Amino acid sequence: MNNRYLDKARIQAEIPDFFNVLDILDSVGSTNDTIKENVLTHPEGWVVLAESQTKGKGRNGRTFLSNKGKGLYCSILLKPHNDGKILNKLSLITPLAMAKSIHECYGLRPVIKWPNDLWLNGKKIAGVLIETQFSQDQTSFDFVIIGIGVNVHTQEFPTDLSSIAASLEDFTESVLDRNDLLIRFLTNFKTLLDSQDFMDDYRKWMLPYGTEVIVTHQDDTYSGRVFRLNENGHLVVTKDDGTSVILNSEEIHLKLK
Ligand code: BTN
Repeated sequence: MNNRYLDKARIQAEIPDFFNVLDILDSVGSTNDTIKENVLTHPEGWVVLAESQTKGKGRNGRTFLSNKGKGLYCSILLKPHNDGKILNKLSLITPLAMAKSIHECYGLRPVIKWPNDLWLNGKKIAGVLIETQFSQDQTSFDFVIIGIGVNVHTQEFPTDLSSIAASLEDFTESVLDRNDLLIRFLTNFKTLLDSQDFMDDYRKWMLPYGTEVIVTHQDDTYSGRVFRLNENGHLVVTKDDGTSVILNSEEIHLKLK
């Protein structure tokens, strides 16, 4: 247990130079929105952190509860022009960087529920929300915002999440200093961003082969088992009837049975 505040001087001194502007806000609607609203005046590598968010956003329109000092609420601005594969890569390396960081800092080993939630002992402890804007001619991106939220000390969750969500503090007696975790995360994130070779690493941290899952796609719901991550970063699931489906992160919700 430790509720130290986020320490700007220390973080700035210990993260890669790529993260050239760092803002730590006390309270904000959403760190992703702060970046979106100021994207034109800031460079790639801008990091926004907040002690609390009043309108923290999750995927698929959900809320990400972000009470003061209870979690890590972090957004990063990237401007990756003309790189069609980058979204897929970011969707995989962001949870991978955090999974490794949690392991390196606290010895806990989260599993990545494809594409980018982190679970520990059957509970969700972190999530990723990536937002982007394509250029007018749709051929490149104006920007990409990577948002990651980690439950560190959170004990209150929205009713629909209370049975599946938990915090790092539920699983360790270690001192949980959010500064350590953030520094490690940004360092690992930059290393993976520069790497071409992260798929096998991701496979080591994702839901293991054979894990039973329920897939919902629009009005269709079916059960199956995780088979593998293919070379494009898509999840291949074997349905109970023996056929295989390739899941695309934009359109699939995956629930652990
Ligand atoms: C999810 O689990 O559905 C994604 C949660 C993403 C939450 C983070 S917290 C920092 C950033 N700002 C937001 O409003 N959302 C992301």
